[in-house]
Amino acid sequence: MASSLTYALFLLLVASAAAESPTPAAWPLQFHSLLYVNYSGSLSMIDLWYDWTNGRNFNIVQDQLGSILYDLEWNNGTSFFYSLDSAKKCSSAQLEVGILRPNWLDGAEYLGQETVDGFLCNVWQKVQFIWYYEDVVTNRPVHWEFYTGRSIHVMTFDVGAVLEDEKWQAPVYCFEKKDAQTDPRSEYKVVDVGFLEPQLKGILGGTMQL
Ligand SMILES: *[C@@H]1O[C@H](CO)[C@@H](O)[C@H](O)[C@H]1NC(C)=O
Ligand SMILES: *[C@@H]1O[C@H](CO)[C@@H](O)[C@H](O)[C@H]1NC(C)=O
Repeated sequence: MASSLTYALFLLLVASAAAESPTPAAWPLQFHSLLYVNYSGSLSMIDLWYDWTNGRNFNIVQDQLGSILYDLEWNNGTSFFYSLDSAKKCSSAQLEVGILRPNWLDGAEYLGQETVDGFLCNVWQKVQFIWYYEDVVTNRPVHWEFYTGRSIHVMTFDVGAVLEDEKWQAPVYCFEKKDAQTDPRSEYKVVDVGFLEPQLKGILGGTMQL
């Protein structure tokens, strides 16, 4: 009798745990990640330095056998896109929102479990912009994919790693006055850089609540 009651309670617990959908882990306040990116067959590696504590985020993008693009974002909405080669290109953008908040995945819709890159993952989607895969065992992100088809695979995830301050200094040519005719965005297709689309950041980032 007592044991069947215990068993009934156990079933109840299992059922209520199953009914409650898991939620994605908040991003650590500071981490470094190496990301492998496939955008419709164009491959790149991104060195991602997320640093919420200091209000900054850095994507260092190495295109396959190509150039390196530095995409430096500040929480005041200013972003710099530059190269460090002899071309000395730099453009900047002023967005309405700052960098992604650690809890930017709050409110994502749970879709269940799927094995990706060999890891069993919980899967969520948010506003039909992003599909996010997190390892069931470690809660680390494994993979995410944008509505554009840009596909990100997380190769390393070092919680607490911080890039030295001097590396966050945009080069001097980012601050030189430009010819008024130059559309800063024409130098780099802003949408094609970084691990997040700017419009996605606009929707998910900053103060906007979803
Ligand atoms: C990149 O993604 C495309 C689909 O967009 C796929 O056909 C291709 O196999 C992928 N390549 C690599 C190296 O992951
Ligand atoms: C935002 O912060 C960066 C880094 O301190 C600075 O270079 C930039 O001018 C600031 N932008 C605005 C709009 O204040």
